[in-house]
Amino acid sequence: MRRITLSRYLIEQQREKGSLPGDLRLLIEVVARACKTISVAIGKGELAGVLGGAGSDNVQGEAQKKLDVLSNDILLEANEWGGHLAAMASEEMDDPHPIPNRYPKGEYLLVFDPLDGSSNIDVNLSVGTIFSVLRCAEGMEPTEQAFLQPGTKQVAAGYAVYGPSTILVLTTGDGVDCFTLDREQGSFVLTQPKMSIPEDTKEFAINMSNQRFWEPPMQRYVNDLLLGKEGPRGKDFNMRWVASMVADVHRILTRGGIFMYPLDSKMKDKGGKLRLMYEANPMAFIVEQAGGAATTARQRIMDVQPSSLHQRVPVVLGSKNEVAMVTKYHQS
Ligand code: AHG
Ligand code: MN
Ligand code: MN
Repeated sequence: MRRITLSRYLIEQQREKGSLPGDLRLLIEVVARACKTISVAIGKGELAGVLGGAGSDNVQGEAQKKLDVLSNDILLEANEWGGHLAAMASEEMDDPHPIPNRYPKGEYLLVFDPLDGSSNIDVNLSVGTIFSVLRCAEGMEPTEQAFLQPGTKQVAAGYAVYGPSTILVLTTGDGVDCFTLDREQGSFVLTQPKMSIPEDTKEFAINMSNQRFWEPPMQRYVNDLLLGKEGPRGKDFNMRWVASMVADVHRILTRGGIFMYPLDSKMKDKGGKLRLMYEANPMAFIVEQAGGAATTARQRIMDVQPSSLHQRVPVVLGSKNEVAMVTKYHQS
């Protein structure tokens, strides 16, 4: 069997398609290496003393887990010295992290959710890392302003899932490919090339405990799903909710489905639960590249012009026809 490692895949993309600048290739390799390091720490779990709370809060007032902080540090350290970045921003840091003066600077901006699904760490369920790459406009200082670009400007995005296997899913705007970590060799190997999301589905993912707080169109839509064969949809739907966006999105990339974290009255002033720059945009880019759709229910996610780094948005993504259906409920 021809084994295509991530390194070979990236070099061939650069060489054959000319679509991948050398610096971006290096950046992706460094992020993948950091994900391997995070995967090792997660794999050791309690043996390495990495479970449990860190005893601190992040900028959004959420209690940080030890692994939130550790994964953030691993990503910062790995990406600081390569010369490919202008700055980094993370869910776990108040402000953008500039590249220290002792290192050369590059043209890219790296944005990440170092550890997604923190509530699942201590119960040994899948967690992940989400990242997105933007270009820093020429002559612009890499302050918060430089990051405030819509998702359509992303040049790459990806996520790792630390599950039964560690996998890395990647897009550079030319489809979506999935790599599996070969733990013995220490390399990511291409295992699911050109992932594609079925247009129709009978499976939805949402935190049902928030039902009474949703807006009326979302209430109506989910009610109709629950009515199954006897309802207006005329078919039975199944429900799944891992509560790690990476795992829920990966299921959708694998077998279709719809994932929703809608606006609810508890968090109306925040704009939603999931973060535009670290979660919604990279996942929207990946899902669209795999033939799916991603919306706030009223607007394509990647068209949202961010107004602040830690902005939150409602998220509806997955199988194209089902996402269109949610939009329809919000129009009527
Ligand atoms: P994070 O761990 O990075 O804060 O993200 C958690 C997110 C997302 O992964 C998941 O879809 C959602 O929060 C889970 O929310 P509930 O607790 O409402 O299930
Ligand atoms: Mn997250
Ligand atoms: Mn996180």
